[in-house]
Amino acid sequence: MERIVVLTGAGISRESGLDTFRDADGIWSRYDIEDVCTPDAFRRDPALVDRFYNDRRAELRRVGPNAAHLALARLEEAARTGAWHGEILVITQNIDDLHERAGNRNVWHMHGELLRVRCASCGGTPEWHADCLPETPCPLCGRPSLRPDVVWFGEIPLHMPRIEAALGACDLFVSIGTSGTVYPAAGFAALVEGHAETLEINLEPSVASARFDRFMTGPATRMVPRWVDEVLAG
Ligand code: APR
Repeated sequence: MERIVVLTGAGISRESGLDTFRDADGIWSRYDIEDVCTPDAFRRDPALVDRFYNDRRAELRRVGPNAAHLALARLEEAARTGAWHGEILVITQNIDDLHERAGNRNVWHMHGELLRVRCASCGGTPEWHADCLPETPCPLCGRPSLRPDVVWFGEIPLHMPRIEAALGACDLFVSIGTSGTVYPAAGFAALVEGHAETLEINLEPSVASARFDRFMTGPATRMVPRWVDEVLAG
């Protein structure tokens, strides 16, 4: 049984039409992190933060999964049908739902989900809907304490205990489309050193590339299907 853990970043969704963060035309070239992606930003101006995420929800509604997302779904499907004797877990830094729309079910969003909100009172994460505003009562507890279900800078990413357990038990760790600049994801390759092989798929070397055994250079829509074909061919 081959256990593969895949980490994805904004680069895997780039060819679907969603901007990355740190490329020349990226999100952080147009917005200041301090204005839209910290707890203080939300306390200071919740309406601005809501507009930022509503703009990204509108963009997400206009795009779909690309060949890279679909290739990862093909690998999970092969594990489900027994065509491939392995298992794949997708840990994503992305808050879009393109992995799920491609067909992957084993997906952990360590930075949260754009299409959910989170109640600061009861901790529930109901689905976001168009008239969800900061003062909208939480559908689960009724208190007006909804916020985007997104992990902001300075907050603790989600699922870390089980992520560390999965990394500790994997045979192959694959990083796709991430600059390797934000921890803890940037440290995952170091966590698997000594017990798993490592592969990085990116347009260009990332900050973390030196930690990887193998590198596939090129757009995710070309390289991820090629890599999945390799895995399925055994
Ligand atoms: N195919 C493969 N890789 C690509 C492609 C592509 N078509 N286009 C861009 N990339 C790569 C870039 O080379 C870069 O290494 O995707 C990476 C995008 O890096 P970032 O913009 O930094 O995005 P990411 O690594 O996901 O950011 C991590 O930072 O802002 C926070 O919470 C946010 O989850 C995000 C985290």
